Amino acid sequence: MSADPIISLRGVTKNYGSGATAFQALKGVDLDIAQGDFVAVMGPSGSGKSTTMNILGCLDVPTTGAFLFKGRHVETLDRDQRALLRRRYLGFVFQGFNLLARTTALENVELPLLYRGEDRRTRQIAGMAALDKVGLKDWWDHTPAELSGGQQQRVAIARAIVTQPDVLLADEPTGNLDSERSVEIMQLLTDLNRNSGITVLMVTHEPDMAAFARTIVHFKDGLVERVDQGAMA
Ligand SMILES: Nc1ncnc2c1ncn2[C@@H]1O[C@H](COP(=O)(O)OP(=O)(O)OP(=O)(O)O)[C@@H](O)[C@H]1O
Ligand SMILES: [Mg+2]
Repeated sequence: MSADPIISLRGVTKNYGSGATAFQALKGVDLDIAQGDFVAVMGPSGSGKSTTMNILGCLDVPTTGAFLFKGRHVETLDRDQRALLRRRYLGFVFQGFNLLARTTALENVELPLLYRGEDRRTRQIAGMAALDKVGLKDWWDHTPAELSGGQQQRVAIARAIVTQPDVLLADEPTGNLDSERSVEIMQLLTDLNRNSGITVLMVTHEPDMAAFARTIVHFKDGLVERVDQGAMA
């Protein structure tokens, strides 16, 4: 692992709304993520996990404080610059899979490459390679409705890794899956972390899933309460 963290948050606050309805979801989050780490983010509902993930995913910005990615101050970037950073370095997986219906697995996986302007053949080769990594090469022409929940989430992971991101962000990726399917997803994330060197950050409510991670970050009331290292050793 390199000494410099790939991600640093310094005093990050996030306010939603203003005036009487204003709410501070993050109250000064400090967090360092080492390159190559596998991090589980835990904590009660409403403690700020998704708010933090959305900032790390460049989907949202802090109200105050600093977010450094590879030493670059993301909070100073405009929307377009953040989008470029997101497309180049980050992959995002959500609880609800978020696949396009009536669209094949391969076409779903190819989407980030389409946004990048890659040609059809490049998209297909990279798309099939990503589907192969998640064990779904033979399912490339199936639509989401023809796939199980676990398979849909694997397609979503293939879509997230098709651009070869440095960081994979997953917000409750097993939240809609039974425990057997959840373990399969965790094994896949572990494999991507170890063999492809992707830094993984995953929100989960389940200790069994967090046990797959190397580092566990506990949120409470909009702050990092505790960081446990070496859970997996
Ligand atoms: N867009 C928004 N507008 C207003 N308040 C919001 C918004 N998004 C989140 N919040 C509030 O911010 C707080 C933190 O929300 P967040 O989604 O980060 O929690 P969480 O830790 O992910 O919870 P959960 O485990 O339920 O997903 C909550 O009180 C929530 O109601
Ligand atoms: Mg959440």
